[in-house]
Parts: sequence; structure tokens; C-alpha cells
Amino acid sequence: MVIYYSYSKNTEKYAKELAGILQAEAFELKETKRRSGVAGFLSGGFQTLMKKESLVEALPDISACKEIYVCMPIWVGNVPPAVRYFLNRGDFAGKTVNLLITCGSATEMEGYRQNAEKTFKDAGCVTGAVLGFVCPMKKKEAAASEDIKEQLSAMLQK
Ligand SMILES: Cc1cc2nc3c(=O)[nH]c(=O)nc-3n(C[C@H](O)[C@H](O)[C@H](O)COP(=O)(O)O)c2cc1C
Repeated sequence: MVIYYSYSKNTEKYAKELAGILQAEAFELKETKRRSGVAGFLSGGFQTLMKKESLVEALPDISACKEIYVCMPIWVGNVPPAVRYFLNRGDFAGKTVNLLITCGSATEMEGYRQNAEKTFKDAGCVTGAVLGFVCPMKKKEAAASEDIKEQLSAMLQK
């Protein structure tokens, strides 16, 4: 299963393409309290720094999955609150947790991949692949679906 959180919908594109490639279900973690504007941005950053969770409408049933992909944007260098909510509640025993992150900064990517992996490992997860993609927030033209598919396929082969 592919589980994702996406605020401005960059990660969603990757998650959906990934689910298509893997022929897996894509499950969205939706915050009960929707964020918007500058206040949403600032509170999101602050909550992430404080390692806070934010409530999501529903959690996926991963009991039958041996392997999952968790897809998320990087917020202030780490895992956003909605993903932390899932992480703190999921039963990951016996599962491999692969990660897919999107972030704005290419130069910080390696550090972000390590941060995200560490956050999951610290929660007791066995992690697998950690895929990273650069998606600036203000980019006008979203990456084309074919490009995303190509990037993902290349990464999954590594
Ligand atoms: C609250 C907030 C904090 C962010 N912090 C970072 C950051 O520390 N480093 C970075 O490279 N990008 C940062 N970004 C940019 C996002 O990680 C990036 O644009 C991502 O692709 C957004 O994914 P989404 O559209 O699925 O929400 C931040 C975005 C938000 C909203």
C-alpha cells in the first residue's frame, strides 16, 4: 500500500504514480483541520519542529501488508505532523517501510532523507528504500506524469 500526506499536492502526484507502478492502493492521510495560507504554513512548520502530531480523518489498515510506502513532503527538515500521527499509531511489526519524500531544496535532500529515515527508525520501523524528489513550492508547471513515472521507475530499479 502507498500511504501519503500532501499539502500542496506535489507528493500526491508521486504517490499516485508510485501506486500505479506497484499496482497498489493509494491511501491519503487527510488532516481533520485543513491548513491554509500563511498561518497554515507557519503552524505546520512550528508543529513539525516541536515533533507534534496532527489528527487525520482515518488511518489505513496495513495489517495485510508486508511492505508499505509512506510518501510525504519535508517540513522544516523533517516529517510533517499528519505523518507523525500515523507513525505513532501504526503497527509496523514485520513490515518494511519505504519512504518517498518531496522537498524544495536539492542541496538539503540527502540530509532530509536521513532525517526522515531516522524518524521512522526511532519509532521502531524497519526501513527500506528512501526516495527523494525535489519539488519547489512555487513552481508553476507541475512535473508531467510521464516524467514522474520515469523518475520513479529509475529509482525503484536501483
Ligand atoms: C510548512 C512547510 C515547511 C517546509 N519546509 C521545507 C524545508 O525545510 N525544506 C525544503 O526543502 N522544503 C520545505 N518545504 C517545501 C515542501 O517540502 C515541498 O514543496 C513539497 O514538495 C511539498 O509537497 P506537497 O505539495 O505534497 O505538500 C516546506 C513546505 C511547507 C508547507
